[in-house]
Amino acid sequence: MIILIGGEKGGTGKTTIATNLAAMRALAGRDVLLIDTDPQGSANYWAQSRDDEGITPRVACIQKFGKGLPKEVKDLSGRYEDIIIDAGGRDSVELRSSLVVVEKAFIPIQPSQFDIWTLNQMNELVETSKGFNPDIQAKVIISRSSTNPSVHESEETGKLLDDFSNLGLANILIRDRIAYRKAAKDGLAVTELKPKDPKAISEMENLYKEVFGNE
Ligand SMILES: Nc1ncnc2c1ncn2[C@@H]1O[C@H](COP(=O)(O)OP(=O)(O)O)[C@@H](O)[C@H]1O
Ligand SMILES: [Mg+2]
Repeated sequence: MIILIGGEKGGTGKTTIATNLAAMRALAGRDVLLIDTDPQGSANYWAQSRDDEGITPRVACIQKFGKGLPKEVKDLSGRYEDIIIDAGGRDSVELRSSLVVVEKAFIPIQPSQFDIWTLNQMNELVETSKGFNPDIQAKVIISRSSTNPSVHESEETGKLLDDFSNLGLANILIRDRIAYRKAAKDGLAVTELKPKDPKAISEMENLYKEVFGNE
């Protein structure tokens, strides 16, 4: 499956989600490629740390910029079972062009910095991409939500999304947990981190199921 974790805002947890899903996919025995399209290169840095620490399974990661991305992704899709694209926090050519080739796009949003403009833009980008990629599914993931349980955050976001015909809401939300930062630093998924954070593990496992289903 070819998926995008993208959006126009930085710091919403895109790289965290992309790297966790990539490692979990590799742990499930899949041939997975992570494509880092953000000039900041955090996904690539994560994969490098994983290699440096000798963690297995290895997660293949390449950096790719510019308009040639869709063609490159199509070529690589014959060599990998899964491709996960991490697209940086701005309206970039990489974000736009990824939307043309992916089956599913996930857009993490932080409830605290909730930004209607961002969603409006994303809704329009998905609309445009449907001209070339009519079956694309795009979902917003509430990310880095406070661990202080507040139902309102997701309910309010859910209501707001009614206005955007091209965007659905993921069933699970990701909370702000120190385990995600610790895992990232060592090139790990939270499922590999010791000591275990069962809540973070359960969030990522549920997200994994929602993204990949039974595939
Ligand atoms: N769910 C989370 N809980 C705690 N920290 C998080 C979470 N998601 C991301 N972070 C931290 O927030 C910062 C930005 O996250 P990152 O995934 O790099 O965002 P983006 O790729 O959208 O810019 C990083 O320091 C990361 O470790
Ligand atoms: Mg990032």
